[in-house]
Amino acid sequence: MSLRGDYRLAAPDFSVEQDWAAHGAGEHALFRRLFERQSRLVPRFACPEWIQAIAGLDAGGGIPKFDQVSKKLRAKTGWEIVAVPGLIPDDAFFTHLAKRRFPVTVWLRKPEEFDYIAEPDVFHDFFGHVPLLFDPVYADHLHEYGKGGLKAMRLDAVKMLARLYWYTIEFGLIKTDLGVRAYGAGLLSSGGELAYCVADPAPRRLDFDLEKALRTQYLIDRYQSTYFVIDSFAQLMRETAPDFTPIYDRLRPLPVLAP
Ligand code: PHE
Ligand code: CO
Repeated sequence: MSLRGDYRLAAPDFSVEQDWAAHGAGEHALFRRLFERQSRLVPRFACPEWIQAIAGLDAGGGIPKFDQVSKKLRAKTGWEIVAVPGLIPDDAFFTHLAKRRFPVTVWLRKPEEFDYIAEPDVFHDFFGHVPLLFDPVYADHLHEYGKGGLKAMRLDAVKMLARLYWYTIEFGLIKTDLGVRAYGAGLLSSGGELAYCVADPAPRRLDFDLEKALRTQYLIDRYQSTYFVIDSFAQLMRETAPDFTPIYDRLRPLPVLAP
């Protein structure tokens, strides 16, 4: 698969400088349009932690300056943003997370990709992922996930762990006093799936089950048919805290589950 980012100037850890000045007015306007569409949906469908964090970010004016956001993040949870050309290899990705650095893609989709892109862009990465890094429990969990990723590489279990990421960090739902809400970045940045995942009767919404998530294949090119619902970020932290080595060993010979 060929990736659309420009990797030529990337450092060995795949980081690049965010060339903010290179974004023209058209790109800032497109970011604003994406931001505004999602902003109309999030009050009804996003989890409160995300809603609270985005308010403090003042990010609706255009493509944000990563340095400024990193400064706020560092002060709150010790995370920072690192600019990357696009998708990066597993080891580089996990290493960044294990150092509390979240990789954010620098390029923005084209106007004709308003509703769907196959690869994450700056809108998905920033709008979907960055706000929750302000939540202390979520932030600690993602740090643990990064360390767990490096370990999964040694244990040849990245595929299983990637399914967990998909069903939590990208497409996870959470129970709140206001009902079920989205906390997964793929949902928060989606114009269609954000309402679908919370309000449509069609998909399954299962209570979070660690082993089932590790075993369940996922769909990348359509809305999910199954979502896992957590009670709280504390539950996610607690249930992913045990050593996964024996769990991987037990699950490896079992058949994978259909989405
Ligand atoms: N506890 C897991 C392990 O030992 C690592 C992990 C932490 C995975 C948090 C996911 C989320 O491998
Ligand atoms: Co993502």
